[in-house]
Order: sequence, then structure tokens, then C-alpha cells
Amino acid sequence: MSASSLYALRTHARWSFAITTSTAACLAVGLSILVAGSMGSFALKAAAVPLVLWMLVRASLPQHLPHTRLGPANHVTLARSVCVAMLAAMLGAPTIADWPELVALFAAITLVLDGVDGLVARHFKVASGFGASLDGELDALLVLVLSALVWQLDRSGAWVLLAGTARFAFLAGMYRWPWMRASLPESNHRKLCFAFFVCSLVVIPMPWISIETAHVLSFFATTLVLLSFAVDVAWLRAHGRGEGIARDDLPPAAPGDRAWGRLLKAAHSGTALVPLTEPADRALLERFAPALGSHPHRPFVVGHLAQSIDGHIALESGASQWISGPDDLVHTHRLRALVDAVLVGAETAICDNPRLTVRETSGPHPTRVILDPNGRLDPACAVCLDTTADTVVLVKQGQEAHTCLPERVQVVEVPHNDGFVSPQAILAALHTRGIRRVLVEGGGVTVSRFIEAGMMDRLHLTVAPMWLGGGRPALHLPVIDRLQDALRPPCRVDTLGGDVLFDFDLSGLTDQ
Ligand SMILES: NC(=O)c1ccc[n+]([C@@H]2O[C@H](COP(=O)([O-])OP(=O)(O)OC[C@H]3O[C@@H](n4cnc5c(N)ncnc54)[C@H](OP(=O)(O)O)[C@@H]3O)[C@@H](O)[C@H]2O)c1
Repeated sequence: MSASSLYALRTHARWSFAITTSTAACLAVGLSILVAGSMGSFALKAAAVPLVLWMLVRASLPQHLPHTRLGPANHVTLARSVCVAMLAAMLGAPTIADWPELVALFAAITLVLDGVDGLVARHFKVASGFGASLDGELDALLVLVLSALVWQLDRSGAWVLLAGTARFAFLAGMYRWPWMRASLPESNHRKLCFAFFVCSLVVIPMPWISIETAHVLSFFATTLVLLSFAVDVAWLRAHGRGEGIARDDLPPAAPGDRAWGRLLKAAHSGTALVPLTEPADRALLERFAPALGSHPHRPFVVGHLAQSIDGHIALESGASQWISGPDDLVHTHRLRALVDAVLVGAETAICDNPRLTVRETSGPHPTRVILDPNGRLDPACAVCLDTTADTVVLVKQGQEAHTCLPERVQVVEVPHNDGFVSPQAILAALHTRGIRRVLVEGGGVTVSRFIEAGMMDRLHLTVAPMWLGGGRPALHLPVIDRLQDALRPPCRVDTLGGDVLFDFDLSGLTDQ
């Protein structure tokens, strides 16, 4: 597929998702008419499931990048949505009492397909944050529909609806309280409780289960699910403030909250930024709005470095944590949340072993890109092992190494000239993967090469009031002989705690 316009790849994924969802909705409608023998409200209920699913997950579509179309695993999940839609169609039907086996059959197929999509994603190496979200939200809909069905079949008390609606109550909580938006750690207990609940709901409608057993089973399963949610909420209450949530994203009405929400939306859904009047909102918009630029034929590039007063980003040994203060750390994570990809040079990946995820604010994780032309990256480094976000490693064409990187890491060969990879070639490789905005987060060599090539649009340079006396330089630009040849791009000056942020507009130097 050609990437002739900035949004082409992303739009493709969006349309592909919309078309597949509509197909699933039509299939569900057709099947429900077959089962019910008439059109009526069956078809409407069946169509609602894929459409609600689409509404729930469309915001996480950017996490599908760098994949630009729905993969086989997503198609299995959408096929599963047809079965959930069939179950939804039976809700409220007067003849529901005649269909317990049918309920159990569709529920069982859905469970089997749930295992299949994970296997397919791993087999084709196409796991993505979007796929996980699609799968999770469909599970939530399945649980809601199944719990309503067993209640309607009189095989459980109405309490089962508490478990069925728990995920939606959780989503409402996330909307209301920012501390609930932190990422939960992986938990086998959570998975076990959920699996037990769904398996119970599959067998409860079976006629060979007595009413008493069905009620006891559903009560036990409901209690387990509610306990599991309670444990998660308690964990988020205790940890959500420190991890994954912006310091100034708390409490709900904290200064700048509205502006940050709008910036994220503008960055990932392309909505226009509407000015806000609150001083904290205005300050945030002024700081980040210029970083949301775009180009039709290549990604928009923002650079960030934190340097000492004497122009160093690290000691000679490579130690650089920390030169700037905590406000600059939050600032960097905010920049990450606003871009599709964060890129660092091999030296930074080796010296710092960074995770390059968004933890100090709310927002999606960008794809991590490591520029490692000579294949020096350690396969056990954080960006290779951590599964929170996708990782792409750029190597020079013909580079033999990197056979031992984990399968989930995409290795992309880029053309080079005697080992030098032009920033143009790097951006072309990222653009064909649907990446519209890149943060080049160091080190000095990598940032300097982008500036020199006229491929950096803005540079956020944070200067900390400290002297290192020597070390690794921030910018390595060609030496000039005359002062009048010095670069003096337009610049906005801001403060980040005790540090000073210079936000350079390099558009005058760039090659569009
Ligand atoms: N204070 C901060 O803001 C900050 C931010 C990031 C990093 N750091 C620190 O900075 C240090 C690393 O920075 P650095 O400037 O030394 O190195 P770097 O920019 O992280 O990495 C440089 C390496 O990346 C590869 N590379 C970059 N651009 C290339 C191109 N156009 N073509 C081919 N290869 C390219 C080369 O790898 P090969 O050597 O394999 O050819 C090059 O040696 C670390 O100590 C880190 O802790 C500080």
C-alpha cells in the first residue's frame, strides 16, 4: 500500500477495522434471523455488539501501529464477536427458555476462539496493544451478555449482573479518577477468576445442571470476579498516584488536566486544538501544541536533550541520570505520549538501557525505535524484553547480526552509505510503517545528525544549572568560522522546575 499522504496508513487501518466490524454485524444479523425465524429486534441486538465493540476500542487504534492493517488474530476476534452478537440477540427473547443448549453452544465457541486468537497473534508475530484491547473489550461484552442470559434463564439470581457489569463500572471509574488509569501488573489470579466465571456461565445454562447447583455456582463465580476487581482497584488506589499517572494529572481537576486530554486527542485522533483560558491549560497547550506538526511525505520530528550549562549530556563514562530535574522527566514522558515513535541511537540504548515507555503521565506508549546499524544491541536489554510497547530495530542493509533478538522485536534494514544511515532513509522506513510523528530522544550524535540533515522540526533542549567539566557533547554540528554564520533559530523559553527549556523552531532549516 502506498503511503502518499500523511494519514494514508492509519486511515487504512481505520477503514479496514470499520469494514470488518460491519461484516461481523451483517453476519450476526443474518444468523440471528436464521435462528429466530424473523427480523424483529433480534437483528438489532445482534448488530449492536460489533458496533459497541467498535466504539469501545477505536480510540486505541493508534496502538495498532506499526501494523497498518487488521491481522489474522484481529479477524478471529471479530469472528468471535459474531458469536457474542448471537448471544446478545437472544437477550429478552420470549422463547429463551427453549434455547439453553444454544446459549451454551455459542458461549463455548466463543471461549475456544478466545484461545485461538492469542495463538494466531503469537504465530504470525502480530501482537499489538490494539489487539489486546479488542480482545479485552469483547470479553467484557461476552460476560455482560452471558450474565444477563443466565439470569433470564432463571439459572442465577440478579447478583450475577454485578459481575457482568463490573468491567463497565471500572471504565466509568477510569474516566472519573485518573489514578485508576495506571497500568495494572500482570496477574494470574485475575485471569483465573475471569476464566472460572466465563466457564461457569457456559455450563450453568445446561439442562443437566440442577437449578440449585447453578445458583451456587453463579454466586461463587460472581463473588470471585468482584473480589478480583476489588483487589485491582485497591492496588490502583495505592499505586496509581506514583506510577503511570502524571504528577500534575492528579487529582481529577488538577491544573492542566483538560489541556493534556485535548493534546492527546489532537495527537492521536487528529482533532483540532481548541484554546483554553485557565493559565495552567494555556501553559501546557503553548508548550506542546507546536510539537504536533505534520508533513505529508515524512514524519514530523521533535528532538529532546537535557544538557549541563557547559553543553554535555553525559559523563565520558556514559552516566547521564539525572542531569535535568523531575519536571523535565515528566516533560519527556509527555513528549513520548504525543508521538507515534520514540527513537534513540545505539549508544543511548546500550548506556542507559531505557524502557522508553510512558510512565510519568497518562497516554499511549509510542513504538520504540533503536538506531543500531551495526547490531550492537544486547538481546536482553529492556526494549527487547519489555512487552509494554512495540520495538523496531533499524540496522544497516546487509547487517548479519541480530539473529538472537526476541521474535517480537522487528528488525528493519535501512540503506546506508559506508555505515552512515541518512535521517531521510530512517524517516522513510518509519513513514511506510504509518508513523506520523517521531521523538528523537538522544543521544547527541543522533540528534545532531537529524539537525544537520534538515530533518528535525523542533528541538526541546533542557539546560540544567550544573557543570560537568567534560563528557559527551549535546550537539555536534559543523564548525563555523564567522559569527554571522551561527544558527539562531526562533526559540521559546520556558522553565521546568529549576531547569530552562529552550524550544527551538527548526522549520527554517528543514527539508520538507
Ligand atoms: N541527557 C540526555 O538528554 C541524554 C539523552 C540520551 C542519551 N544520553 C546519554 O548520551 C550518551 C549517548 O549519546 P551519544 O551521542 O554518545 O550516542 P547516540 O546518539 O545515543 O548513539 C550514537 C550511535 O547511534 C548510531 N547512529 C546514530 N545516528 C546514526 C546515523 N545517522 N547513521 C548510522 N548510525 C547512527 C551509531 O551507532 P554505531 O556506533 O553502532 O555505528 C552511533 O555511534 C549516553 O551516555 C546516554 O546516557 C543523554
